[in-house]
Amino acid sequence: MGPTGTPTEIHGGETVALVGGGLGNAVLFSIGEAFRKKGSKVLYFAGYKKQIDRYKVQEIEAAADIVVWCCDEAPGFTPNRPQDRSFVGNIVQAMLAYAKGELGDNAIRMQDVDRIIAIGSDRMMAAVGQARHEALKPYLKPHHYAIGSINSPMQCMLKEICAQCLQPHRDPQTGEVRYVFSCFNQDQPLDLVDFHGLSERLRQNSLQEKLTAQWLAHCMEELRRQRPMV
Ligand code: FES
Repeated sequence: MGPTGTPTEIHGGETVALVGGGLGNAVLFSIGEAFRKKGSKVLYFAGYKKQIDRYKVQEIEAAADIVVWCCDEAPGFTPNRPQDRSFVGNIVQAMLAYAKGELGDNAIRMQDVDRIIAIGSDRMMAAVGQARHEALKPYLKPHHYAIGSINSPMQCMLKEICAQCLQPHRDPQTGEVRYVFSCFNQDQPLDLVDFHGLSERLRQNSLQEKLTAQWLAHCMEELRRQRPMV
C-alpha cells in the first residue's frame, strides 16, 4: 500500500478467490498475477455496475485461472474463454451461484478456496464478509482466511501522525474494540473490520467528492463545447 505501507502477502500452493468491485479490479489483477506466478490457483469474481465500467479485460484474464464476470446490468458480459463464466446480479449472488454449480462445471471448487481477498466499496466488502458466515458458509472451508483492502480516508500516510486512517476493529468473539492505522496495512481481516465505523469515516469526504464530481463534469462540458470532437 503506497510507498510506506505493507504489500499484500502472496502465497504459493493455495486456491485464492479474488473478489473485485469496480475500481478494485485495477488493483486485484496484479495480485492475481503474483499468486499465479507463485503457483496458486486463482478464481476471480470481477464485478461491475454497468457494462461500460469494465476495462483491462486481458490483464484480468491473464491474472486468473477462472474469471466470473458479474454485472448488475443485463445482459451482462460474454466470456472470451471457455472456462470463464458470466452472471447478472451482485457479486455475492454470483459467488453463491458459482458455489452451487449453477454457472456450469467448475474446474475450481469454492470448497477448495483457502483465501479470499476482496477489494471494492465498503458495502461490497462488508457483504462478502457477512455472506461467508451465512449463505456461502456451506460452500467454504471453515478456516479459510478472508481479508479486505480497507479504503480508510488517508492523509499523511506516515503512520500514527494524522490519524485520518484510523479504523476500528471489533473482535467477533469478545466484542473488544481496538483501533488500527490503515496506512500501516490496508489488508485487514474481514471478520475484524467495523464496517459501520468505516462507512462513517468515509462519509466525511462526501461533500468534497460531490463538489469535485460537479467541477469535473462542468470542465468536461466546457471542453466539449469548445472542442466538439472531445
Ligand atoms: S494517514 Fe496519517 S496516520 Fe495514517
